[in-house]
Order: sequence, then C-alpha cells, then structure tokens
Amino acid sequence: MALSKNTGGFTSNLGAIAAAAGSAIGLGNIWRFPYTVGQYGGGAFLLVYLLFVFLIGVPIMMSELSLGRRSGANAVASFRVLSPKRKGWAAVGIWGIITVFLIYSFYSTVTGWTLNYVVEAASGGLSADRVGDFSQFFQDFATHPYKPLIYQFIFLALSALVVVLGVQKGIEGFSKVLMPILFVLMIVLCIRSLTLPGASAGVEFLFKPDFSKLNGVAILSALGQAMFSLSIGLGVLITYGAYVRKEDNLFKTSLCIASMDTLVAILSGVAIFPAVFAFGMSPTSGPSLVYEVLPNVFNSMSGGVIFATLFFLLLSIAALSSTISMHEALVYWLMQDFKMKRGVATTITTIAVFVFGTLCTLSFSVMSDFNIFGRTIFDLLDHLTATYMLPIGALGIIIFLAWRLPKVDVHDELSNSGKIKARFFDFFYFMIRFVAPVAVFIVLIAGMFGLGQ
Ligand code: PHE
Repeated sequence: MALSKNTGGFTSNLGAIAAAAGSAIGLGNIWRFPYTVGQYGGGAFLLVYLLFVFLIGVPIMMSELSLGRRSGANAVASFRVLSPKRKGWAAVGIWGIITVFLIYSFYSTVTGWTLNYVVEAASGGLSADRVGDFSQFFQDFATHPYKPLIYQFIFLALSALVVVLGVQKGIEGFSKVLMPILFVLMIVLCIRSLTLPGASAGVEFLFKPDFSKLNGVAILSALGQAMFSLSIGLGVLITYGAYVRKEDNLFKTSLCIASMDTLVAILSGVAIFPAVFAFGMSPTSGPSLVYEVLPNVFNSMSGGVIFATLFFLLLSIAALSSTISMHEALVYWLMQDFKMKRGVATTITTIAVFVFGTLCTLSFSVMSDFNIFGRTIFDLLDHLTATYMLPIGALGIIIFLAWRLPKVDVHDELSNSGKIKARFFDFFYFMIRFVAPVAVFIVLIAGMFGLGQ
C-alpha cells in the first residue's frame, strides 16, 4: 500500500493533538491514577511514573503514531502493510485489539458510575445532608443490580454515536472545545482541596518519596499506569496516527500530549490526596476512591452542587473522548480488515463491549463472589490489561519499529521525509532500540515474580 494520503484525517496539528490528548486524558488520570498512587504508597511511585512517561512513554507514542501514519492503516493491518514479507507481525496488532476490547469493557463500568454522578449531583443527590456517608452512597449504587448497567449502556451508545459521525466531525470537533474547561475546573478543585484543614498530610503523601514502599509490583504498576494513561501499547495511537497529517512533527506532538496528560494526572492527585487526609479517609481504598472522596470536597465548597455537576459532566466528556478512541480502533479495524460499513462495525463493537462490560459491572453486585485468581472480573481485567498486557503490547510495537523496519524508513517518517531536522532522532532511536525494550522487559519480569517484596 502506498503511504497514507490522509484523506478524511485530522485537519490540523491542533486537531490531532486534541484528539490524541482526548484519548489520553480520561478516567485513567482522574480515577485510576489517584487510586493506584494510593495503593502503591505515594511519592516514590509518582517519581517512577514520571520517568516512565517521559523516557519510555513518549518514544513509544512516537513509534505508534509513525506506524499508523506511514501505513495509513488500522492497528492490525499496519503491521502487514509495513512488513509484507513477514505478516506474522500482525499478531502484535491482534494482541492490541484484544487489549482494547478488554480495557473498554471495564472502563465502560466506570463511565457508567461517572454518568450517574452527573445526574445525582445535578439533582442535589450528592449533598452531605441527604447522603450522610459518601462511601456508603457509592457502595449502594455500585452494588445495585441494574442501575449501573443502564448508565453504562447510555454511555456506550453516546460513544457509538460520535464514532458513527466519523473522524473529523465527531472526534476532532468534540475534543477541541471541552478539554480546556476541564482543566480550569481541576485547578479550582485543587485550590479547595489544598485549603482544607489537614491538607498538608496529603501533599506530603503525594510528593514526598518513600522508597521503602517501592517493590517490583509497584514499579510494574507505575509502568502500566503510564501506558494506560497515555493510551499506548495497544494500537489506539496507531489508529489515530493514520489520521495525522504528513507535515505534523510527531516528536513535538507526542511531547505535548504526554505533558498535558501528566499535568492532569498530577492535578487530580493534588485535588484528591489532601482531601483524603483532611476527611480522615484511606488512600488505599481502590477503584472507589475518587467517587467517595470528591463529593466531600464539593460539599465543603460554596456552590458545591454546581461545581460537582460541572465536574462530573466534564469528567464524563473526558472519558468519552477516551472511549471514542478505543471504539474507533476497533471500528477502523473491522472496516478495513472485514470490509464492514462504519455503522455496522460500530453496532457490533458496541454490543460486544456492552456484553463483556456487563460482567465487569456485575462484579460489584451479583457476581461479586465470582473470583478468578482471587479477583472479581472487574479487578482482574483492570489489573491484567494495564499491568501486563500493555507492557507486552508495547514491547511488540517497539521491537517491530526498531528491529524490523529499516532505520531509514523510521527516520524518513519522523523527519517528514527530510522536511524537518529531527534532531531528536538519534536519541529516540537509541531509546526505542535498546533502553525501552530492556527496561520494559526487566520491569515485567520483576513485577511478575514479585521481586523486592
Ligand atoms: N488513556 C485513557 C485514560 O487515561 C484510557 C485509555 C487507555 C484510552 C487505552 C485508550 C486506550 O483514561
């Protein structure tokens, strides 16, 4: 196949950044990041996380975007297009598609919770006078046998709607407007949280590294969280790469996306941990953390109802731009490799994710006793995908780029066929060829065998 012609792709660099940042910024930053930091002990985890994002994450992101842009194809076909003699590499793409599907399934459970919180906040249901204990409130909702399923389904349907509209109208237009508003709101939340009495313990927890808490599992989880948050290691950004214009600088684009994503993650840490300590809660409570902590913060603000409503609404929108990217990766694959129409592909993926996602949602209620390796389906998927499947997928992607593709081709793609200087190239190539694969491999082994525990 010839190089991508970019027909129907993103119309500007800003559009590409907005869409990819929209994919990256989502529940991973505001829901998963704080609870993972909380479980693995705070500051030291954060430090390792930052190293992974910039030293390994950014080069992987550049690799994915280049693969997609060069092939103009979906996450699976890209490997076949770029390696026509050894089509077996497409297995890396299939692995990615499976990972997308599994992540989307449990992610959709959390989107359902978020949507419910919008409705509750708007109708005054998140007020302390009415609810009393927000942990109990969350539990009551999450364990309800069908209510969470309804919200989950509504959310999936919304995502499907945007995906059916296509790349430019749907994804790009949407992302550009709303992210800046979320950002401002996060800052307001941070200020409120930091001014609560007793907030300093939370600041210390987040920023003061205690290296005794770091072990193999914590380091692997930091890597997994970095990949989850950046949306890398599973081909979503290969898909978006196919829509990126030939003249865009992929290094700058990736750096920009990773920086914004990290900023939002840190802001959400600053919004949440001071409040956790101020309200005497526990940072280790797991996936329910933000849904139990944040309502307390809103309740301590004047105008809390409005802020809460706006916040959960924007969080839903941030989550939507992430689900859109997962949806799109699945749909583009079905369209290209199975010659399906966009509408058909979108319907099939929506139903499939809903069926699997139902199991995840029910893990909190009727299926809570159904455990595999001592975890509910939700916990298992959350842990398995982010911690193991993403690093393995990323390993496949970078080995393909650095060891299978000719160096001149990789240089050609990243320098826009010589139109930009690409001074970063040697460093990038060294990282992707040696440092990243070795580091990811070691961290995977150390995490799997529980070294340093
Ligand atoms: N990065 C998204 C988030 O932080 C989640 C995501 C993961 C999206 C993988 C696409 C692919 O919420």
